[in-house]
Amino acid sequence: GQHLLGLRGMSAEEITSILDRAAYWENYPEKVAKVLNGKFVANLFFENSTRTRTSFEIAEKRLGTEVINFSAAESSVQKGESIYDTVRTVESMGIDAAVIRLKPIGLLAEMANKIKVPLINAGDGNNEHPTQALLDLYTMRKHFGHIKGLTVSIVGDIQHSRVARSNLWALQAMGAQVRLCAPENMRAKELEAFAPYVTIEEALRSDVVMMLRVQLERHDQGMIRSAEEYRAQYGMTVERAAKMAPHAIIMHPAPVNRNVEIDDELVEHPKSHIFAQMSHGVPIRMAVVERALHN
Ligand code: CP
Repeated sequence: GQHLLGLRGMSAEEITSILDRAAYWENYPEKVAKVLNGKFVANLFFENSTRTRTSFEIAEKRLGTEVINFSAAESSVQKGESIYDTVRTVESMGIDAAVIRLKPIGLLAEMANKIKVPLINAGDGNNEHPTQALLDLYTMRKHFGHIKGLTVSIVGDIQHSRVARSNLWALQAMGAQVRLCAPENMRAKELEAFAPYVTIEEALRSDVVMMLRVQLERHDQGMIRSAEEYRAQYGMTVERAAKMAPHAIIMHPAPVNRNVEIDDELVEHPKSHIFAQMSHGVPIRMAVVERALHN
């Protein structure tokens, strides 16, 4: 089995093979394939989740695995047990792979050296969220037929976004042109060497405009003081969406703050692929779980 810790450094060939396998699963005629009967997969969530946790569980069940769901809030983590000791505990019971979401950056890579079963990153701090980016790339490839040559602008709270980082690495590996757009206090300085920051007007001139969830609670000291001000300066408003090219699409990993980073009317608009992204999470995670458990 193979860990999936992140997409930084992953080749275009490997990304393509995961997307191709997801396409196989998206078009698979049966709901349950049972190809991984007898395997046990644990979903270990030390941070909250709706989409990632649920779609991993559906993916695992569609592959025929036995699923163990663990949420830190109901566990001995509340008695002070560490993340490492928790993962080691579940491993000792005989699981075959673990899907993990956690906050501390670097801990997953550290654990990957000590834990023998494959670990799949379901989001680690602001570092990476590889399955989210894979489902985003899958959505783009399905819509445009290719990823190479696309211009993709990622707009919003780049600094806190593992989604932005995983997309940046994977999109660049696949030959897309990535641009970032954020208010000064939401920029990640270390990414400036990899992608330019552009204005919101420039970001609208892209094939894909990917909006990020704003975590306003973390920015009360900054330049953006309210949801209204954020929407006015950086939100995907109906007016801004009308300036996008007819072929261009809007994406968002969700959860969405309606009328903050994206207007309510746009969430389910034909230009928006937000619910398609969520639906693609299942075949992508089937491909990723299968990859982890093979060999
Ligand atoms: N997009 C995403 O990761 O959503 P959840 O936090 O609900 O899993």
